[in-house]
Order: sequence, then structure tokens, then C-alpha cells
Amino acid sequence: MANGNPFSPTFGASPPELAGRDDVLEAIEDALDTGPTHPDYSALLIGARGTGKTVMLEAIEELARSRGWLTIAETAFPARLPDRLLRRAAELLDATGDSQGGWRVTGLQAASLGVTVEHQDADRRPLDLRAALAALGDRLSEHETGLLITLDELQGGDIDEVREVGSILQHVTRREQRPVAFVGAALPSVEDGLLSGDAATFLQRCSIHEIGRLTPAATQAAIAKPIQGLGAEISAEGLSTAVAATAGYPFMVQLVGFHSWKAAENPMTEITDANVSTGIDEAERRIGRLVLWPTWKDLSQVDRNFLIAMTQDLGTSKLSDVAHRLGVTVSYAGVYRQRLLRSGVITAAGKGQISFTHPSTREWILTLDDTLDSQGEAQPPQ
Ligand SMILES: Nc1ncnc2c1ncn2[C@@H]1O[C@H](COP(=O)(O)OP(=O)(O)OP(=O)(O)O)[C@@H](O)[C@H]1O
Ligand SMILES: [Mg+2]
Repeated sequence: MANGNPFSPTFGASPPELAGRDDVLEAIEDALDTGPTHPDYSALLIGARGTGKTVMLEAIEELARSRGWLTIAETAFPARLPDRLLRRAAELLDATGDSQGGWRVTGLQAASLGVTVEHQDADRRPLDLRAALAALGDRLSEHETGLLITLDELQGGDIDEVREVGSILQHVTRREQRPVAFVGAALPSVEDGLLSGDAATFLQRCSIHEIGRLTPAATQAAIAKPIQGLGAEISAEGLSTAVAATAGYPFMVQLVGFHSWKAAENPMTEITDANVSTGIDEAERRIGRLVLWPTWKDLSQVDRNFLIAMTQDLGTSKLSDVAHRLGVTVSYAGVYRQRLLRSGVITAAGKGQISFTHPSTREWILTLDDTLDSQGEAQPPQ
């Protein structure tokens, strides 16, 4: 903790106060306690970049571990997801092996060759993921515990591999009711990929929790509690300015908290209004490079043009105005609106209206304009 600073403006770093997510945590906790018939026993967390999906997966793994469950935490990419899961499952089978018999892993081979196991009757054969999870599920259910599998970044995985894992889980947990719970995390674009299509796949049947912006009350708690918990102080006005500047966006909460603390000469005496202003400036300077740039980089030029057309408005934009500026029909603009909503860069703001998810996006795009090269490719701002 630099200089006692409690905030954690880093992707995947657990915040000092995981604010505003109690409902989701309680639903999943209830599922772990109830069993495979609970709708949240297989769940998806969906949200834009920097909303806190990875830290929620960690909190959920902790819930499972505190109940004596085993956990396997993987990201959907790079490749060979089923093999990586098999290795982990085999290691857990090995670790939970007992002299009563069951499977014993005798060799972990190159990933593509799988895992060799030995049964108590000396039957040696390669183990596949379905058999490994089934064996592990059976063993854990004897001990009235379970296995939680978490998969982060589902939208980035190989679609066939993720579907293969889904269909294995469909058998092991949904059909055969073994205690193997699943929580995945993905960007909203997953709805156009893995979750699209007619076949009702395992993933389409997961319960979905939107991991979005925090309410003002949760944002206030996320900033004030870590400060007060250390016996430090923040001015009342500074706190409400900080809350407004974050627009409830979790990554920004950590950035504003971190840089306001850092700006204070002595946070134990008080983080002043001026310190918060400095902190907000610093946070806005960084959020572009850390969050807006990675999102922008993945957008098509047409999507970018849509966002550039929105910058003519100060607050919310009307879809009809944006369509007019782009010289396209409203229904054509609506298709891009839908895609941009899913990328998390814009948010619906009432009928036919949209706004930037993060308020500083407009300013950021305007500064980008200067750096567009002849192909319309922007360079990351420094
Ligand atoms: N509920 C919360 N309250 C306060 N801060 C939070 C909360 N959730 C996440 N954060 C903070 O937000 C930042 C982003 O969290 P995280 O890395 O989990 O986001 P993510 O959704 O996984 O992003 P990405 O899609 O880019 O992987 C971290 O600094 C984290 O500490
Ligand atoms: Mg993440």
C-alpha cells in the first residue's frame, strides 16, 4: 500500500470496499448452499471494461473456499481451455485422493495428450474432462462440498472450446446434478458471439448478472469507507464531488480515490476539496489510456464515427440527431447504437437517447481527434 493509500486502481486488484454487489454475492452464495437445482448455480457476470467482473469472480471463489469448496479459476484464452481445465481437475482429483480408492493421477502429460489416471483396480487409461469432473463431483458430494469453476474473459475464448466446456458442464452439473458450480465473466459483446444462435446452449441457460455502474450510495461507500477505515478524513464536499466525478464507474472510483489520497499532504488530517479536484484531474488523464483506449481500439471505424458524431452534444444525444449527422437512417444508426451499448462505451438514456458511459469520454475523443492519422487510426494518447 503506497503511502498507506488504500485504493487499488489496477485491473483485477480487489478494491478495499467491494461496494454495491451484495445482491449478486448473496444470490450465488444461496446457490452454493442450495445445490445444482438453484438457477444461480451456473451464472454469468456481464459488464463493460473496468466494472469489476474479475474482482467479483475472486470474491465468489472466496465464498466457495470459505465453505470448504475446491475452486478452479481459469481465463477462456489463450487456447486449449479444455486441456487446462482437465489438468487442474486432475490435480484436484489427485490431491483429494484417499486410500479408499477412486482415481489416482499417475502422469500429467503434455496438455494435448491429457492425463493418465489409475483406478483402484489398476485400470490405467487417459481421463477426459467430463470423466474428471464427474469423478471429482462424486468425490466432493460424498463430503458434502463441491467444486466451483470460474472462467474469466469468456468473450475472448475460442468459441468451439468454450462451447465444448459448456456441453460437458451441461452433463456433469445440470443433467447429472453433481456439485460443480460455474460462474463466467464476459464483456457485453458476448451476447453477439457465444450467447447468440438458436441452440440453447449451457451458457445461454446460465443466469445473468449485470455488473454495471454503482449507485451514488454505493459509490460513496466505496470511497468513504476505505478512508475512514484507516482513521483518515475526507471533506464532505470533496466526497460528493468525487462521487459525481466517477459516475459510479468502479475503475474510476479507485482512480479518483487513489489520486485524491495521494494529493493530500496528510490524509489523516483531511483530504480537502482541492485534493479531490487534483485527484479527479489525474484520474481523468489516466482513464483514457487505461480504459477508453482499449475499447476504442476494438471498435470499427463506423462505430468510432458514431461516437465522434455524439461529441457534438454536451450531455445526452438523440439517436435521430446522430443519424442525421452521419447521413444515415435512424434504423441503420440503431444497429450501431446496439453494438456500442454492448461494448459498454455508451448507455441508454431514455427513449431514443444515449450518453457516454463515462462522462470524460467526450473530452477524450475530442483530444483524440488531433491524433487521427490519414487512415483514421488514432494513436494512444500519452
Ligand atoms: N464494487 C466495486 N467497488 C469499488 N471498486 C471496484 C468494485 N469493483 C471493481 N472495482 C475496482 O475497479 C477496477 C476494475 O475491476 P476489474 O479488474 O475486476 O474489472 P473487470 O470488469 O474485470 O475489467 P475488464 O473487463 O477490463 O477485465 C479495479 O481497480 C477494482 O478494484
Ligand atoms: Mg477482468
